[in-house]
Amino acid sequence: MAERNLNFDEIIDRRNTDCLKYDFAKRRGMPEDVLPLWVADMDFKVSSYIEEALVKRSRDAIFGYSEVQTPYFEIVADWMRRHHQWEVKENWLIKTPGVVFALAMAVKAYTNVGDKVLIQQPVYYPFSEVIEDNDRIVVSNDLYLGEDNKYHIDFEDFEYKIREHHIKLFFLCSPHNPVGRVWTKEELIKIGDICLKYGVIVVSDEIHNDFIWNGDHHIFASLKKEYEDIAIVCTSPSKTFNLASMLISNIFIPNMRLKYKFRKQVNAAGISQLSVFGLIACETAYTEGEEWYQAMLAYIKSNIDYVKEYVNKYLKNVKLIETEGTYLVWLDFRKTGIEADELDKKSYMMPNCG
Ligand SMILES: Cc1ncc(COP(=O)(O)O)c(C=O)c1O
Repeated sequence: MAERNLNFDEIIDRRNTDCLKYDFAKRRGMPEDVLPLWVADMDFKVSSYIEEALVKRSRDAIFGYSEVQTPYFEIVADWMRRHHQWEVKENWLIKTPGVVFALAMAVKAYTNVGDKVLIQQPVYYPFSEVIEDNDRIVVSNDLYLGEDNKYHIDFEDFEYKIREHHIKLFFLCSPHNPVGRVWTKEELIKIGDICLKYGVIVVSDEIHNDFIWNGDHHIFASLKKEYEDIAIVCTSPSKTFNLASMLISNIFIPNMRLKYKFRKQVNAAGISQLSVFGLIACETAYTEGEEWYQAMLAYIKSNIDYVKEYVNKYLKNVKLIETEGTYLVWLDFRKTGIEADELDKKSYMMPNCG
């Protein structure tokens, strides 16, 4: 069988397919014809191997409770080994219906109501939502934009915030959405050592770790043996293979005490088995999806280069922040003098902003 879905130029009309970003724009206060770029959801067909595996399974016409057979773990472990040089153990793995769900479980498992949780703004907005919706308090170690056109961590402030606010839990976004940083080994070790010193648990959201354009991605827990004791590593095939609605993510927790606490919250939330389609999609993506993945990476890279060139050429007051990782671009509009609210409205007419 050959991979068929490699035509990333094909324009697919996703309207009237229950698509969140197109079909629900109006309900979210946007004009219906807006080009929705607010959510990390690619407009490509999935790998034809995934398409076929799901069609084949649906023909069984029985959708009772399901679990994975033995190869599932080996398949996920093999992806981690091949793509991230990370050896995982089977008893570290907990499957959840999404990474944001896992972030919420971590908040419940490792903090109490009223506790403070550390994040690094600007960051993917559900980070603060899952903290606040669980009646905890957000503390931010804000990232700053350096002369080198990249965002950086103020480590003095990072340690100060941990000490001052008695932080027990930190959400790391690696690579970082939206600022596009691929954290260096040195930066991650600084983070890890400070967190070890103060006994802070690190939830490392690495959902974008298969999109690296510059530098090397390092799985947080892989950098020092001691980090395995404090790390919850969140991975998923959902960004890499555009499978968000399959609701499948693989969370690795090497410390069994932390894993037990996390598992308890997942059970308390009433989740036991996941959807059979998510499990099949993940297995198929990681076994058969390499050709699609590589072709998609090359396509996205050329899109990023195109946006960069366009912004430099036509939008003279807009600056594109260097995208080292993720498939998102972060644009700095401050020089245009346009206020945030106005910019929000204008964003669907972008060429007028230069
Ligand atoms: C950093 C980050 N974490 C998590 C998610 C969403 O994960 P899930 O759909 O598995 O909850 C996204 C989606 O854009 C993301 O950018």
